[in-house]
Amino acid sequence: METPTTERKKVIFSAIQPSGTITLGNYLGALKNWISLQDEYRCIYALADLHTITVRQEPANFRRNTLEAYALLLACGIDVQKSPFFIQSQVCTHAQLAWILNCYTQFGELQRMTQFKDKAAKHADNVNAGLFTYPSLMAADILLYQTDLVPVGEDQKQHLELARNIAERFNGIYSPTFTVPDAYIPKNGARVMSLQEPARKMSKSDENANAYVAVLDKPEDILRKFKRAVTDSEACVRRAEGKDGINNLMSIYACVTGLTDEQIEKEFEGKGYGDFKTAVAEAVIEHLRPIQARFADFIKNKDYLEQCYTDGAQKALAVSARTLNKVMKKVGFLPKAF
Ligand code: TRP
Repeated sequence: METPTTERKKVIFSAIQPSGTITLGNYLGALKNWISLQDEYRCIYALADLHTITVRQEPANFRRNTLEAYALLLACGIDVQKSPFFIQSQVCTHAQLAWILNCYTQFGELQRMTQFKDKAAKHADNVNAGLFTYPSLMAADILLYQTDLVPVGEDQKQHLELARNIAERFNGIYSPTFTVPDAYIPKNGARVMSLQEPARKMSKSDENANAYVAVLDKPEDILRKFKRAVTDSEACVRRAEGKDGINNLMSIYACVTGLTDEQIEKEFEGKGYGDFKTAVAEAVIEHLRPIQARFADFIKNKDYLEQCYTDGAQKALAVSARTLNKVMKKVGFLPKAF
């Protein structure tokens, strides 16, 4: 006699900060991938707004950015029926576990984080303690959900490594409490580079707005930005070392059309960069069109958005409270009677 076993789906957790414009780089590098993982895995997604206040925010902008980011991620295809999608500040377990994990994280470990060093240099007038302990909050985000896999970009790998170390340390002091998460390396994620300085990552904080494409940019702006993209003087569409600009455009084109490098090289054989840039721009515009249309619908419907993020927060709270309670019991906090 066999008992039917429904194999537990692996848990994926990821989050993005609602700190302004979401770029084509965020979308192709991370979000598109989040969407495609939703059937195979138990995905839990969040807007990491507590992380965002490590840099000073203007309240009205911050509020609007958060709601817009939520609507945009829904428009990109997060399916809240499958994947709880919540706003970090609305689930109190995150800040609670972050405090506890701070006490299991060494000052020296946080001091070694390259993102802290970079941000401290960039915001020298506001090197606050939150900027320093940012990685323990991120560890809390991940560990609360007994996460198996975390899709993260290059810039967050060191933070994930620290989360693993914190989990192992806690498990070692007490007993197995946290799942130790691994990085999820996407099968076909693109690392989208700046259109103006293609050796650097595309960033929304770039002062030159021609360097990035926002997911909500108008078609004419997208076309103009691609037409101005920095390339090289070879005038041959092929992937090669030293052709950062063309390599980047090829990756973007491949990502939105599903074509391989060879197919792209063939399509543009004997054609100039002007044709190629226009084709990339048009493919991106077509790819983003339905997302932009869905965004326009969602953002008008504040009640629906509120219903989605409230439901997400309730689900997230139910799961994360189980982990937090275990942790508190192990550490030796007196159980509360209410
Ligand atoms: N720090 C991440 C970023 O800025 C966002 C984030 C917060 C995150 N918590 C997380 C990513 C947990 C992955 C897992 O990109």
